[in-house]
Amino acid sequence: MHILSAEQFTRGGLEELFETTEKIRADYQQDRLMVASRYAGRQAIMLFYEPSTRTRVSFEMGAYKLGMGVSSTENAREFSSAAKGETIEDTVQVLCEYEPDLLVVRHNEKGSVSKGAVVSTVPVLNAGDGAGEHPTQALLDAYTIHREHGSIDGRHIVMGGDLKHGRTARSLSKTLALFSNVHITFASIPELQMENDIKQYLDAHGVSWDETDSLDRVAAEGDVFYWTRLQDERFGPKPEDPEEVRQEKQRLLAHITLAFDDLTIDGSIANAMQGDSSILHPLPRRGEIKSEVDGNSRAKYFAQAGNGMWVRMAIIDQSLQSV
Ligand code: NCD
Repeated sequence: MHILSAEQFTRGGLEELFETTEKIRADYQQDRLMVASRYAGRQAIMLFYEPSTRTRVSFEMGAYKLGMGVSSTENAREFSSAAKGETIEDTVQVLCEYEPDLLVVRHNEKGSVSKGAVVSTVPVLNAGDGAGEHPTQALLDAYTIHREHGSIDGRHIVMGGDLKHGRTARSLSKTLALFSNVHITFASIPELQMENDIKQYLDAHGVSWDETDSLDRVAAEGDVFYWTRLQDERFGPKPEDPEEVRQEKQRLLAHITLAFDDLTIDGSIANAMQGDSSILHPLPRRGEIKSEVDGNSRAKYFAQAGNGMWVRMAIIDQSLQSV
């Protein structure tokens, strides 16, 4: 089964995934060779057209721990045949000829991973498609909230940063809609607020939400603070005149960086949060959570990244069992 959008998740499916994740984690601590024998002789291909550290390496490390072989093209936009004008459909069809068991694909254009999945003979996992979705990140984010707070039901999740271009916040919003009595506050400047399609999705699924441009107002209220960076690679006009694009981007960035300052989580904002709240971030961060927060008991973003590998092992396990 492909994983292309958080819209395909079910609550039961998520609960099963969380259980499998816990089991794989425990099995690995007990007997790593047993875990490594699970998928010996199987192979995964990582096809990444955009930069990645956590997503690619956690998928790779997870696959290795399950005994799989991995082939990676980590800068496919520049170093694969895409640079020669090959379509994603052709690339995927060629890769399938090598008989992998799984394809993990990240692309710079929204919808491209789904195009590749149409022609794939093996499961395709969307590792991020432009400003579209990042469904496996949402799974590890939801797992982290579940693990840290015991349950997602009833939680107040404050999402901050560049919500307009950030695919992780988009996929997480859809995933949170599977739980009861969740309230979401979108904290951003007006230019970077969450897009209407997600707000409509939440309305259609009965999820209450509001928005603010002031972190101060909600600091004491949230259970989870899910922070994101400026996605300036997705800003500005379409690339017709490169110089115009560069200037427009600079102008936008200067304006937005200034306004974005009010959304920074520093030590005093972190201390104004409830003692049992948690601060998450898909990472990389670029100053929107100050490093002085790292030692705060609420800071969970590094543990969240670590969770990503175990969750992705469970995702691989389920994907390979379903074929
Ligand atoms: C995110 C992504 O690529 O969308 N990173 C990640 O996968 N952990 C977030 C980002 O790039 O800001």
